[in-house]
Order: sequence, then structure tokens, then C-alpha cells
Amino acid sequence: MTIQWFPGHMTKARRQIEDKLKLIDVVIELLDARVPLSSRNPMVDEILKGKPRLVLLNKTDLADPQVTAQWVKYFAEQGLPALPIDAATGTATKEILPRVKQLWADKIERQLSKGINPRAVRALIVGIPNVGKSTLINQLAGKKIAATGDKPGVTKGQQWIKVGTEMDLLDTPGILWPKFEDQLVGQRLAATGAIKEELLHLDEIALFVVRYMVEHYGAALQERFGVTDLPEDMENVHEVVKVMEAIGRKRGAIVSGGKVDLDKASLIIIRDLRAGKMGRISLEKPQ
Ligand code: G4P
Repeated sequence: MTIQWFPGHMTKARRQIEDKLKLIDVVIELLDARVPLSSRNPMVDEILKGKPRLVLLNKTDLADPQVTAQWVKYFAEQGLPALPIDAATGTATKEILPRVKQLWADKIERQLSKGINPRAVRALIVGIPNVGKSTLINQLAGKKIAATGDKPGVTKGQQWIKVGTEMDLLDTPGILWPKFEDQLVGQRLAATGAIKEELLHLDEIALFVVRYMVEHYGAALQERFGVTDLPEDMENVHEVVKVMEAIGRKRGAIVSGGKVDLDKASLIIIRDLRAGKMGRISLEKPQ
């Protein structure tokens, strides 16, 4: 199934973000560490132009640490500092404020040299739906969550969140979509749960996951499901389906007559991946 891509959505999100950028010192771009480029809005570089930016690779608890380290290097080579975090538990989130202040250091210096007390740095968090923006904001704001009041250009209902006295945060205005008209991007996002599974067929997503697992994490797949005889030729769909059936059989996803219920098997595979039950898996590597 093809997911429709409406350029109108993008134009609207772009306008909403550009509106806010005037008020912003630093942008925090939140990506999914398991699929950093696929979970990125395709126009983000253009929209953010010259704004200082910190990339956060979220959900590192679910991602392959070696691959995450490769991504940090990849972004550094693009001139973007990147920090792996886990917003849900707060791992490394304490690093964010110092990193943001570093990006704003010149301005802070200038204000201090003029004898002005530097104001709180204003940061905009951008990220596609489900990447963990609200979780991160709650984590950063902690119990002291407080709105800092209206600022010009801020639409009703959108409030600045105070992080101590040194940073004010704003969530993505509107919805920033990923590039899900690209089939591979769509499959990766469906596998990680960024796209609702109703939008793609379960067996299609599971097929993608099993194929990727056999190619990159064969041992983890064998260990989780006790399947042996992984196929050599992953281009052959029938071979991949055989692995899915073997998994279904091991996990009791059987319909009357003893046949494997492929939808049920697919759901097991996808849920296990998302819950980290096959280990820490990244579904995209830097080229
Ligand atoms: P959004 O505002 O960007 O749309 O995302 P949100 O914070 O709502 O997070 C989306 C899902 O991702 C939530 O799970 C959240 O718990 C989970 N999440 C966020 N950060 C992390 C992380 O660092 N690690 C892991 N493993 N998960 C993270 P959910 O399924 O919607 O709800 P629930 O499972 O927490 O109940």
C-alpha cells in the first residue's frame, strides 16, 4: 500500500516553524536513533537554515550502540553536534543544556561583556510525530514544569516551558512529517512504530524486519525465536516467509488445520522488535 504524501502538509508546517524561528536561539532536532535519517523531515535543513542546531538521537535504549556511535560521527562530519539520549529514562538528558549553551556561547559572552545578565536561551524542539518530543520536554522540565507566559508570535495553546532558569523550550508547532512516500523510509518507520501499523500491511512490515534481521542481526533473531537455517538469499520472498512461518510455529501462531497465522506471526515479530526483545537493533546505518 502506498502512503499518500500531501505537499500541503509540508507547506503549512514550514510556515508555522518559520514563524517561530525568529524567536529562537537554538534548534534541538530530535531523531530516532534506530532510524535517524528516515525519522528526519526531508526539508528540515532548508527550513532551519543557519540556526545553531543540536541533534538528539533518542530511544538509544532500543538502538544498537555501535551503530549509534557511527551516527554521532556521521552528524559531526556534517557539522552537527549529536548527542545520544533516552528521553524515557532521562539518560544523558542532563547533557542537553550544556550542549545548547555551547551553541549559544558567543552570544552569552557578548551579553556578559556588556554587563548584561544573559537571558535564558530559547530552544525549539523539532521532530516527527512519535519521536519522543513530549517525553523529552517532560523529562527536561521535571516537576517544575511551568509556562513562561506569552511571547509575541506564539499561538494560543503553545507555551514556553522553563528548564530551570537557563533555557526556555518550545515544542514543534504543527506537525512535521517524515518522508514516508519513500517505501524504505515507510517500512523503517512502520517497524519502529512511528507510523501506525494500519497504514501498512503487517506482513509487509514483518517481512522487512525479518529480512533486515537476517542480514544484520541473524544471531539475535535465532536466539529470540529459536529458528535455525536462516536463508542465504534474502531477495527471495518465499525464503523470508519461511522464516516468518518458522517463527509463527515456534510461538504458537497457528490456525485450524495447522497452518501458520502469518498476521499473528507478523505482529509478534513487530512487537518484539519494538519492545527491544530481540536486543538493541538499529534499522538504518550511515552510508
Ligand atoms: P511525540 O511527542 O514526539 O509525538 O512523542 P512522545 O513523547 O509521545 O513519545 C512517543 C512514544 O515513544 C511514547 O511511547 C514514549 O514513551 C516513547 N519514548 C519516548 N522516548 C523514548 C526513549 O528514549 N526510549 C523508549 N524506549 N521509548 C521512548 P508510547 O508507546 O506512545 O506510550 P508508552 O509506551 O510510553 O505508554
